[in-house]
Amino acid sequence: MPTGDAAPDSQSQPHAGASSVSYENVTKRYEGSAEPAVDKLTLEVAAGEICILVGPSGCGKTTAMRMVNRTVEMTSGEIRIGGHSVRDRDPAKLRREIGYVIQQVGLFPHRTIAQNIATVPTLLGWPRERIRARTAELLELIRLDPELADRFPAQLSGGQQQRVGVARALAVDPPVMLMDEPFGAIDPINRERLQNEFLRLQAEIRKTILFVTHDIDEAIKMGDRIAVMREQGRVEQFATPAELLMEPATEFVEDFVGADRALKRLALMRVRDISLWVAPLATAGEPTAAVRAKLDSPEVEVRYPLLVDAARRPLGWLSERDLRAETVPERADSPLGPVLELDDVMRDALADLLQAGVQYAAVVDGAGAVAGILSVEIISEFLASPGAKQDELEAVERPK
Ligand SMILES: Nc1ncnc2c1ncn2[C@@H]1O[C@H](COP(=O)(O)OP(=O)(O)OP(=O)(O)O)[C@@H](O)[C@H]1O
Ligand SMILES: [Mg+2]
Repeated sequence: MPTGDAAPDSQSQPHAGASSVSYENVTKRYEGSAEPAVDKLTLEVAAGEICILVGPSGCGKTTAMRMVNRTVEMTSGEIRIGGHSVRDRDPAKLRREIGYVIQQVGLFPHRTIAQNIATVPTLLGWPRERIRARTAELLELIRLDPELADRFPAQLSGGQQQRVGVARALAVDPPVMLMDEPFGAIDPINRERLQNEFLRLQAEIRKTILFVTHDIDEAIKMGDRIAVMREQGRVEQFATPAELLMEPATEFVEDFVGADRALKRLALMRVRDISLWVAPLATAGEPTAAVRAKLDSPEVEVRYPLLVDAARRPLGWLSERDLRAETVPERADSPLGPVLELDDVMRDALADLLQAGVQYAAVVDGAGAVAGILSVEIISEFLASPGAKQDELEAVERPK
């Protein structure tokens, strides 16, 4: 059953400087509006987690986020960062202390990349040497060539600018980061790359991040927890991505998550999280009678054996003709087809099977040795079985 690859404890610990964020009955009523933009929002964001706010346009995501750094003042309720009310903080200081990345990146066009990154440290009056060191460190963190430091934003690609925006938000090692549709303006291919990069970065920095998006796929990919919101910041469900996909709490969530949620669930799993079929193995020179006996075993679901070398690395599928000889030949009659890895994401593995037009394929471990067989049938039965939910939940509980 699911082995998972639970990360060591150290990885799941928040960064020392990460703080929890809690909303308690927070309401925002903009002047002149009859209805509140956010009505009695209660939400608990654990330190070191990415919490996604997702929901339709105008439901109050940006408003909810901006009340944290007091760029929007709440009308009533309470927001605490690391247990301390934001009301007790000087708004100007709070703004500097909390990293904020907005959709249009918002770099200062007439300042260089280095100057942009150093915005808050400069405001705080850090010594020049410390600023220079921090800027260099951040450029490395976001993997931006230090040579770009003296360019102006317009001389960078959209994706590079976005990374600079992230570096700027991280400059003073904020306890909380607010990211409002940070990848919204980037084309799909670069967006995926930035998302992956950002997840890698987050594994290192373990900040508390409030992340707004209206893209449910992005939410599922990026979030430790997701708050699905509707009008006036009403939270329909606050759950892990896996819980959302498997047990949408309301019809609204179900619609929002979409009809293809079975496929989305596969994106959260790896091949190692599912029970594979036993692979009947054969090595060159072995008597075929012994191999036939393996095929007859009740555990074996495939009709042909897999030829492997001495290290159990797969070479090809033996055919009926191969099995008519006395001993197993050196070469298999049928090609090996796709070879999957235990670490492959299940959705990619399924795509490989479908693309190759095969019903099943060999799965290998990190050393390249056969670990079992994955089939389209296993995947579809898994998605259909009621017992799957619990296994799956255990298998995909983060950290990523
Ligand atoms: N400064 C403002 N004054 C008055 N009403 C506002 C103001 N800002 C936002 N609103 C209203 O508050 C509601 C929530 O807006 P908000 O920007 O928080 O939504 P959102 O969920 O971020 O939407 P989007 O996905 O389109 O960015 C909307 O009805 C909006 O019109
Ligand atoms: Mg918004």
